[in-house]
Amino acid sequence: MEPPAQPGLDRQLEIYKAGLSGVTPALPIAYAALEQKARESLPPESYDYVAGGAASEDTMRENLAAFQRWRIVPRMLRNVSQRDLTVELLGDRLPAPFLLAPIGVQGIVHSEAEMAVARAASSLEVPIVLSTVSSKPMEQVADAMGTTPAWFQLYTPRDRQLAASLLSRAENAGYRAVVVTLDTHILGWRPRDLQRAFLPFLRGLGLANYFTDPVFRQDLPQPPERDPVAAIMKWTTLFSDLSLTWEDIDELRKMTRLPMILKGILHPEDARLAVKHGMAGVIVSNHGGRQVDGAIAALDALPDVVQAVDGGIPVLFDSGIRGGSDAFKALALGAKAVLLGRPYIWGLAVAGETGVREVLQNFLADFDLAMALSGCDSVRKLDSSLLWSAQPVQTV
Ligand code: FNR
Repeated sequence: MEPPAQPGLDRQLEIYKAGLSGVTPALPIAYAALEQKARESLPPESYDYVAGGAASEDTMRENLAAFQRWRIVPRMLRNVSQRDLTVELLGDRLPAPFLLAPIGVQGIVHSEAEMAVARAASSLEVPIVLSTVSSKPMEQVADAMGTTPAWFQLYTPRDRQLAASLLSRAENAGYRAVVVTLDTHILGWRPRDLQRAFLPFLRGLGLANYFTDPVFRQDLPQPPERDPVAAIMKWTTLFSDLSLTWEDIDELRKMTRLPMILKGILHPEDARLAVKHGMAGVIVSNHGGRQVDGAIAALDALPDVVQAVDGGIPVLFDSGIRGGSDAFKALALGAKAVLLGRPYIWGLAVAGETGVREVLQNFLADFDLAMALSGCDSVRKLDSSLLWSAQPVQTV
């Protein structure tokens, strides 16, 4: 399947034409209805694991509210008959300025997990970022991606030999970049999961990359297949490392030839440090409001980070992207591309590979129409002159 030339129009026509034979879309189109349908299809603990955030969930709500504070001011009469949605990122040309955010342990929402996501994403040439804590081993997922770029997300394990092993596996499997997530060196306080006493990893879920790793396996008394409990206990001792500093980032960089991107940057000073330490990009993100409750909405952090980086490296964005207009606003505020998070997981929960594909097609269509209707024929021309905010913009 090729990415469509007119994603918005083609998708609308496909749906409306099917309507002539009485067929309506199987997957809910509106985000709230999609989430609701996923909720009905999932065990409650899985739904809450994906839907929930840290503590009062204030930051999770703020992530969405921040988008509402910015409004698009459409331009007219600008010949938008062709839109160029493509973007060049780390040497790859992407059909549209979005990727799939790393979301761990997808096996709790669908048995095919990251394999279904990889098949759906690659069919539309949308890159993925595979989580360290995926339910399927990284080599299998890379195979399913074919020639579509995939990046590997690293949670830096306390054992640096294991970090080196994960990085070299990612390189050998064909991943084209490493995304080091900085905001989760320990899990946030998550009332929904605590209330249900549900942490998937302690049940052996989401540990495929560890259990298949030669360094992880080497000093276990029994292989994980024979004694999963011992393997899980070992994982608990090395997942989190609260001692990480910029020196560790320098060390990690020496372990791989892949370009390195830091995820979880919110403060402009950290963005400057990322440039100084030779990073290939940063991702402005607060992990979907799952880590620091009361943290700044990711969108509110974006303009200052863009300014601090000053065009030196690409700034990507996630946390709160729900539809095409959200992507439009983040790009207009200086993001080079955005990462889609929870929405594709709901698609996976409802209809596996087909569900993910439909979420991506709908998102792309919605974004393409937002571009056309706002008078933009190229993502490169998006800037803050197309936005209006009722509130004065503060800076850190
Ligand atoms: C995440 N996120 C995440 N990030 C990461 O770097 N590695 C990971 O393994 C995970 N796992 C994960 C699981 C679940 C269930 C969620 C919801 C999120 C964070 C993710 O990459 C992204 O930052 C957020 O999903 C963005 O927020 P929204 O747009 O999904 O609300």
